[in-house]
Amino acid sequence: PIRADFLVVANRLPVDRKTGPDGEPVWRTSPGGLVTALEPVMKRKGGAWIGWHGAPDETIDGFEHEGYRIVPVPLSTQDVEEFYEGFSNATLWPLYHDVVAPPKFHREWWDTYRDVNRRFAQAAAEVAADGATVWVQDYQLHLVPAMLRELRPDLRIGFFLHIPFPPQELFQQLPWRRQLIEGLLGADLIGFQLPGGAANFIRLAKRLSGVKASRDTIIAADGRTVLARAYPISIDADGFKALADDPEVKAEAAKLREDLGNPKTIFLGVDRLDYTKGLRQRIRAFGELFRDGQLDPNETVFLQVATPSRERVEEYRKLRDDIDLLVGRINSQVGEIGNPAIVYRHESYPRTSMAAMYSIADVMVVTPLRDGMNLVAKEYVACHESDDAALVLSEFAGAAKELKQAYHCNPHDLNGMKETILRATTDSRAARSRRMRALRHQVFAHQIDDWANDFLRDLGA
Ligand code: G6P
Repeated sequence: PIRADFLVVANRLPVDRKTGPDGEPVWRTSPGGLVTALEPVMKRKGGAWIGWHGAPDETIDGFEHEGYRIVPVPLSTQDVEEFYEGFSNATLWPLYHDVVAPPKFHREWWDTYRDVNRRFAQAAAEVAADGATVWVQDYQLHLVPAMLRELRPDLRIGFFLHIPFPPQELFQQLPWRRQLIEGLLGADLIGFQLPGGAANFIRLAKRLSGVKASRDTIIAADGRTVLARAYPISIDADGFKALADDPEVKAEAAKLREDLGNPKTIFLGVDRLDYTKGLRQRIRAFGELFRDGQLDPNETVFLQVATPSRERVEEYRKLRDDIDLLVGRINSQVGEIGNPAIVYRHESYPRTSMAAMYSIADVMVVTPLRDGMNLVAKEYVACHESDDAALVLSEFAGAAKELKQAYHCNPHDLNGMKETILRATTDSRAARSRRMRALRHQVFAHQIDDWANDFLRDLGA
């Protein structure tokens, strides 16, 4: 049996098991910011990554990957429906994102969530060496820290939440609110994206679990000290830049620009197809700008990539249909045959293609209604070489706190967002350059290794 000194435990593995066109199983990079951020950390540190491989009802053996061990945790179809699509993504996800969709509360989902969390904890307990460091990730696994501590009191246990941690008024809706807080309190260190999330957590821990706390230090019921602090997550900016500088990626970028008809201005959106990302509002804003002649479809293209995500969850299906409809309606009214104003791809692209898109986009548009951090905004800054560019960023993305020189907007305010999008193209070259340089400085000064090192240092690992 393998024993690791360092473990990441996340619902998703960095690679996803899919079925290829010929029916053969293939492995693909998993979607989302969590994997983007943690992959380089694991490559550097080695150890084991425990998680689900994305294929229901399949049991897969562990294997070596990029210098670390992959340990797949199987999920049944029922687990996927109740733990993943249900409690994780139809209860916690909307609740934690400002209830932009109504969260659903089902008791069976909770039971399965607890069972699956226990299986992740058991898997970690089996793989962890004596005194190992275990780093549990995200809202799908809130109960793992306490369950794991019971099984293995010798471990250092950290937890990081990649999404926002909501204010009391929202969290209190949860019928299982105390259990979730106490699950997290099993960790030695609990990390959040922003100080506000840490503060929300401490307030709730005091209220629901009766613990004492001063500043960021909580005294748990068993007398242990638990720290709750903010660690804004980042990317491997050097790695992304190297990708954008690669001659093959440059050639792909040139071809893409050509394919888009060599427009004067390219706007770009890149998101998982998720209702938190503000896609309806963003596309509506571009539709109005094109229709009212404020953007000229003959010299402007808005390229929107929406990565397929959680496709069996009702809200996501509805969103997909809405976006198809919106884009179709706009393109049937503006632009020309063979020259659409909005180029929309519901498709997942490899990182090389993403780097190519970032490097040709004159304006990156990142307008979520709520987002823990948003790494796409940072990826753009890392990949886009020229200063003659701009980032439009929602004030409701965690990244807005660090990327202060982006053009901030409120995605609920359609007129305001339209004005900001226009301003990002019409501002003087000098003003835009100043902003891009400041953004670049920020992104390269705080990379993913800094994030991991800060967290692991505080964990005493
Ligand atoms: C966000 C979450 C991750 C999740 C990712 C992709 O980044 O914070 O935990 O893995 O979305 O979503 P999925 O449901 O496909 O894992």
